[in-house]
Amino acid sequence: MTNLLQVRDVHASYGHAQALFGVSFDVRAGEVVTLLGRNGMGRSTTVKCLFGMLPLKAGAISFGGKPLASLASHHIARLGLGLVPEGRQVFANLSVEENLVATARAPRHTQRSLQPWDLERVYRFFPRLKERRGNHGWQLSGGEQQMLAIGRALMTNPLLLVLDEATEGLAPIIRAEIWAALAALKAEGLSQIVIDKNVGALLKFADRHVVLEKGKVVWQGSSEALRAEPHIVQQYMGVS
Ligand SMILES: Nc1ncnc2c1ncn2[C@@H]1O[C@H](COP(=O)(O)OP(=O)(O)O)[C@@H](O)[C@H]1O
Ligand SMILES: [Mg+2]
Repeated sequence: MTNLLQVRDVHASYGHAQALFGVSFDVRAGEVVTLLGRNGMGRSTTVKCLFGMLPLKAGAISFGGKPLASLASHHIARLGLGLVPEGRQVFANLSVEENLVATARAPRHTQRSLQPWDLERVYRFFPRLKERRGNHGWQLSGGEQQMLAIGRALMTNPLLLVLDEATEGLAPIIRAEIWAALAALKAEGLSQIVIDKNVGALLKFADRHVVLEKGKVVWQGSSEALRAEPHIVQQYMGVS
C-alpha cells in the first residue's frame, strides 16, 4: 500500500502556546487510522494543520505526494481531503439538500477505484437525509446533523475522509448507524482518519491507531497491537 498522507514532525502553536510537538504518522491508501487521546491532547489541532486552518511552525505534511504546507484550505479540499468537523457545523439556515449541493464536486481522475458520490447516492446511503431533504439544518437531530456532515464531505468525492468526533453526543443507536456507515465506506476502500472516544468501536474497524498525549505521539500501532496492550488505552484515555 502506498502512503496517501504523510505527517512529519509537525509542530504547531496558538500564539505563544505550543500545542503540537513533533507529530508524525502516515495513512496508506484504503486505511482507517484513528487519533486517540484525552481532550486537549492535540487531535483537533492535528486536523486543523491537515486542512490548512493552522500554520505549521515546523515539519511537513504531504498528501498524494504533494506538500500541503502553505496551501489555502479550499485548495487542500480540492486535492481530496474531506472534513467532518468537530461540532458538525452544518449550515443551519440551508436545507439538507442545499447543504449537500453546496460542497459538491466531481470526482478526480485519481480515484477511479472509488465509486463517485452524488446527491442520489448520498440519499441511498443515508435514507434519513432524503426524508429530511427539505428541512433546515437547525431542524435536524444531532444524528441527522452528523449524517449531513458526512454526506456533505462525501459530496466532495474525497480521497481521505477526516472525522473529528465521529459520534460525540449521539444516542447509542445512532452511534451504531454511524459506525456501520464508516465501516461500509472502508469496505469500498475510502481512507479515513477517525477521532472518537469509543475505542471499542474503533478497534473493530480501524487498521491503526495514533495515541496523542500533550501534543506528542506516545504510541502507534495496529488494532491487534493495541488490543494486546490494554494499559495504553487505560493510561492515555482514562478508560479500560
Ligand atoms: N483556538 C485555540 N486557541 C488556543 N489554544 C487552543 C485552541 N484550540 C485548542 N487549543 C489548545 O491546544 C491544545 C490541544 O487542543 P485540541 O487539539 O483541540 O485537543 P483535542 O485533542 O481535544 O482535539 C489544548 O491545550 C487546547 O487548550
Ligand atoms: Mg477536539
